[in-house]
Amino acid sequence: MTTHNHPNPSARQGPIEVSFTLNGREITVHADPADRLLDTLRHTLGLTGTKEGCGEGECGSCTVSMNGKPVNACLVPTYQTRGSVIETIESIDPETLAAMLESGATQCGACTPGVVLTAAWILKNPDLLNTRTLRELMAGNLCRCTGYDGIIEGIERSLARGDAR
Ligand code: FES
Ligand code: FES
Repeated sequence: MTTHNHPNPSARQGPIEVSFTLNGREITVHADPADRLLDTLRHTLGLTGTKEGCGEGECGSCTVSMNGKPVNACLVPTYQTRGSVIETIESIDPETLAAMLESGATQCGACTPGVVLTAAWILKNPDLLNTRTLRELMAGNLCRCTGYDGIIEGIERSLARGDAR
């Protein structure tokens, strides 16, 4: 019988070892090839601040930072984080969240961790606003509650104060 090597971990059986930097710390987890980063964060590592909404890449509730850019953790297989730098809501400067609370951006709070992660990316990269509006940059984060005005106002407050730079 012929055997084949499968370079794609999803074609192999069993957990694989994955090392990455999470909120400033090197960690190693064992993940099945089909495991989503969202589940590894919430269930394996106990970081429940990252929320699941749609589970299909549509709502942005599960947004985390991967190598400095927001990604949907429900769409990222854990093995793809190998060697990367991941940051979650647990690592965020509290000032960024404070501005959201002050502006009434949070009602049920389900979208808030994802909103704050995307906001933190904008705050660290204000040049993004040279080519896109704040509302365009935030379009991947859906909120069922606030109508977005509070979210935009909160980010504008943070930008004005220079939070998280
Ligand atoms: S839960 Fe990931 S985008 Fe909705
Ligand atoms: S505050 Fe409820 S979904 Fe945004």
